[in-house]
Amino acid sequence: MTAVLVTGALGQIGTELTRALRGRHGAGHVLATGYREAPPESSPLSDGLYERLDVTDHRAVNATFVEHDVDVVYHLAARLSVLSEADPQEAWAVNMGGLHNVLEAARTHGVGQVFWPSSIAAFGPETPSERTPQDTLMRPTTIYGVAKVAGELLCDYYCRHYGLDVRGVRYPGVISGATRPTGGTTDYAVEIFYAAIESGCYTCFVRADTVLPMIYMPDCIKAALDLMAADRPQLRHHNSFNVSAMSFSAGALAEEIAKHVPGFVCDFAPDHRQAIADSWPHSLDDSAARAEWGWKPRFGLPEMTTDMLATLRARQQAGRL
Ligand code: SER
Repeated sequence: MTAVLVTGALGQIGTELTRALRGRHGAGHVLATGYREAPPESSPLSDGLYERLDVTDHRAVNATFVEHDVDVVYHLAARLSVLSEADPQEAWAVNMGGLHNVLEAARTHGVGQVFWPSSIAAFGPETPSERTPQDTLMRPTTIYGVAKVAGELLCDYYCRHYGLDVRGVRYPGVISGATRPTGGTTDYAVEIFYAAIESGCYTCFVRADTVLPMIYMPDCIKAALDLMAADRPQLRHHNSFNVSAMSFSAGALAEEIAKHVPGFVCDFAPDHRQAIADSWPHSLDDSAARAEWGWKPRFGLPEMTTDMLATLRARQQAGRL
């Protein structure tokens, strides 16, 4: 009997969240789904159940809930910001249509809990950018951000109107060493590590003084699991908690890496992604998450950098970078 469903399981967060959930519940109780036919042989997800699932197909979503007796959902399937700007119609279909299909299936099948991540992209250029408050002006200028704000409101609606237990956080840029992100604006903060290890140089697509909030994968997973484990009556915000871990400029990240990789050179050649980065906050006020469910990150810039480089070097030595 399956109890936990993960959508977008082959993605950057999905891979590691599925592994963490399988560690807790057992591989047989966590169904990983993704848009691809099957995970590669070498994938860390090949130890358990995997099915192809197109979240824009509401019949397929329903069938999955019925067949696997789903009780808890981590709905991660989405197009990130840069890919979304390249095809806004498809982005809306996947990011909003997919969320609606999952919420509807969860409602009609009496699912216990849904986790859905929002993002710093839900904020826009008019939002206060330093220590952005939990509840503030939200007028994003990307289609990805528009879908995140609309998604937060839709989750609130399902929570209030149907009593569905939907929870989520606004993730900063996520840095990790297992699965590379695809098509996001904050991808530079991951690419730079691979480049440092592989070639000792990187050309960054945002300016050196670009500051964004970031989180390291162990904290990203911890945020999801801690929030899902919190007592429901303690939560006032449910699905849109700011979570903060660290904020740094692209230049400061390059300097931190150079402390560990002698001779590392980073150039800066801003492209169209700069405008997206400029529309997002520099740092977040996460006091609501701290007060309502005890959020506390473990990794700052120095700890994250040391761990990322060690992780990637170990993969490189094993021939699996
Ligand atoms: N990391 C995402 C992106 O860059 C934002 O949530 O698109």
